[in-house]
Amino acid sequence: MARTKIAVIGGGQIGGNLALYAAQRELGDVVIYDLPAKEGPVAGKALDIAAQLPVEGRDAVLRGASRIEDIAGAAVVIVTAGAARTPGMTRADLLAVNLKVIAGTAAGVRAHAPEAFCIIVTNPLDAMVYAFQKFAGLPHARVCGMAGVLDSARFRAFIALELGVSVRDVSALVLGGHGPTMVPLSRLATVGGVPVAELIAPERLRAIEERTRAAGTEIVKLYGSGSAYYSPAMSAIAMAESCIKDQKRVLPVAAHCRGEYGIDGLYVGVPAVIGAGGVERILQVALTAEERDALAATVGAVRQSVREVERSGPGA
Ligand code: LAC
Repeated sequence: MARTKIAVIGGGQIGGNLALYAAQRELGDVVIYDLPAKEGPVAGKALDIAAQLPVEGRDAVLRGASRIEDIAGAAVVIVTAGAARTPGMTRADLLAVNLKVIAGTAAGVRAHAPEAFCIIVTNPLDAMVYAFQKFAGLPHARVCGMAGVLDSARFRAFIALELGVSVRDVSALVLGGHGPTMVPLSRLATVGGVPVAELIAPERLRAIEERTRAAGTEIVKLYGSGSAYYSPAMSAIAMAESCIKDQKRVLPVAAHCRGEYGIDGLYVGVPAVIGAGGVERILQVALTAEERDALAATVGAVRQSVREVERSGPGA
């Protein structure tokens, strides 16, 4: 039986780390696609990673590609193509330029890998995942966005740091759009089964929530050029792995909501079961009035960016 094929669209920093992590976990063979101008660098990344696998004792075949048809047969497509933020930019500032990239990518995936489970990473995430599904015309369950795993991981990391405990034992969820309106749900966060509110004072928890919401921007400032890449790549890999191995992990992802949380027809970050069927189910949790208000605000922000997509269109 042929090994699972994973196509990474966009061979930048996130793309390279996606290929590395996928190979290290032996999730399958990896094609890193980028434009012809990047043919050398993506072939170089593939070769560089391939050469570290014997040292590590892992098997995967990696290659760079500049012809989109080389993604054919991919079970999972992870889209990272597009520009990243630089200091002073918001994710929304990327919309016009990245919308064109997503339109081209969606056409390529529709033509060559229409069966794939597609994970969109390109920013502004909520608008790009919506646009990708619209342009590709793939079933909603086969398209989702990577943001909630990353935002929740940041939340978990900051809680673990605060308490000096293992990140493994911190369980926490961030709902909503991938931007300053995201909703870290402290009420439901636990540390080894103990509610976090019993362990961290309210004002410290508020500060951790605030740092979570701004964590991507904090990294953009520190890097000086470009945005985070290790953590977004690992987050997308967790989603890919859950699909490939039918793990049915419950992961917060930008999923197409049809009435869940009162959201209709938008991709918004919610906890979802990810398995061989893609986004198989959305889990719902009752929210407090304050949380509902916060969710309404983030859904408003997502709706606003989707309106931009509708206004701009790929050719605008
Ligand atoms: C971040 C980018 C990937 O949050 O949006 O770091």
